[in-house]
Amino acid sequence: MLYIGVDLGTSAVKLLLMDEAGKIHNIVSKEYDLSFPHPGWSEQAPEDWYAQSVAGIIELTKECDKAQVAGISFGGQMHGLVVLDENDQVIRPAILWNDGRTTKETDYLNNVIGKDKLSEYTANIAFAGFTAPKILWMKENEPENFARIKKIMLPKDYLAYRLSGVHCTDYSDASGMLLLDVKNKCWSKEMMDICGVSEEQLPKLFESYEVVGALKPELAETLGLSKDVKVIAGAGDNAAAAVGTGTVGDGRCNISLGTSGTIFISSKSFGVDENNALHSFDHADGYYHLMGCMLSAASCNKWWMDDILKTKEYAKEQEGIAKLGENHVYYLPYLMGERSPHNDPAAKATFIGMTMDTTREEMTQAVLEGVAFGLRDSLEVARSLGIKIERTKICGGGAKSPLWKKIIANVMNLKVDVIESEEGPGYGGAILAAVGCGEYESVEAAAEKLVKVIDTVEPEPELVAKYEARYQQFKKIYPTVKDLFKELA
Ligand code: XUL
Repeated sequence: MLYIGVDLGTSAVKLLLMDEAGKIHNIVSKEYDLSFPHPGWSEQAPEDWYAQSVAGIIELTKECDKAQVAGISFGGQMHGLVVLDENDQVIRPAILWNDGRTTKETDYLNNVIGKDKLSEYTANIAFAGFTAPKILWMKENEPENFARIKKIMLPKDYLAYRLSGVHCTDYSDASGMLLLDVKNKCWSKEMMDICGVSEEQLPKLFESYEVVGALKPELAETLGLSKDVKVIAGAGDNAAAAVGTGTVGDGRCNISLGTSGTIFISSKSFGVDENNALHSFDHADGYYHLMGCMLSAASCNKWWMDDILKTKEYAKEQEGIAKLGENHVYYLPYLMGERSPHNDPAAKATFIGMTMDTTREEMTQAVLEGVAFGLRDSLEVARSLGIKIERTKICGGGAKSPLWKKIIANVMNLKVDVIESEEGPGYGGAILAAVGCGEYESVEAAAEKLVKVIDTVEPEPELVAKYEARYQQFKKIYPTVKDLFKELA
């Protein structure tokens, strides 16, 4: 049988066709616009996601035996607020995960309601990109829109809704709304009251591998697929990527170098760090995970290459980088503010340490290193909890660069396992679809069977020591300029 995995990303939707043995038959990518209507705001049109996904499915399945397609599932950009009215129309553009407009609402939640209460209700505190502060922002700034809300959903759930007609979400993605009681896997009554929403407006909760429905018959006809194709709930893109890299069960780690950068640690037991610096979320395998999320990771390199150096030759720009661990330039990767661990929408990207002899290569190297240092900040929080991590998987666009993988391995002092397909969320989505259709008895069993490690990048002790010294310097930069960022904002 064949399974479709949909990775609903920030710049494009990537669709992947996988068979029951895990072989990828086709991959299709369709882009859409991302708009920044004000500095620090980030929005997208949900209709674009749907239109491009439908076009993508048609292209993806053009040459396969369509009768073999049994299921479809998703890994979706998290936290985005999608609101529909009583006629099923999108009320306003979706407010995305990297949108920083909710400073006031986030402060209210963390300081007036209080972090202790939030953590008790949801296992998390408020971050600007989370969904609940956006609901409060809408209530305050767009009361007419707020009054029209019939249904609230997350980006991939909008797709599932359009495909199946079922108003659903899964526990991993719902965890990032700050409306879910993560430990007990149910909506938090207290958080619904705080946000002024009712359970009827929220989607029905499913495990990521559960079937929510089937393709709507008229859509099945348009797509040329059977109306028995099952729609499986899917997961937030990080949980889906973790499934796609085999980061399931206890104590495994995955790093995603996409538009955002995340470090994801799977766990069979629920846990929260004392300061809630890491997100404590449900996982797509039925258990839990901890996660640190940087808002700009591969997007820093993309910005530096496309917008500043005006080149598409990413690999060529990295060829001249010879002296790892010896750069005197540092880069703070906060192009969209920062989530983990600083929780500071006012933070900005910064280069520091240039001299007259600084080269283009050193600046590029600083960008790659700055992202690795930012991820290390979250890894340090996990280490402070006594979590021992020796190795990690890696996925996302940035993982295509051998140099960046080497920098990550040495900055983090981790063995980096490279897997056959770095299509994290799409592959994870297809695996969830296969589990939902009964091909495998559990997500763990499927990942065990399907995910293959093909190489390992080992940290080198001499380089680890050099990077350790540089990380200690890097750590001092943000606290030094933090107040200035607020003044500049
Ligand atoms: C995770 C997060 C991002 C988005 C990217 O908390 O906000 O990784 O999911 O799509």
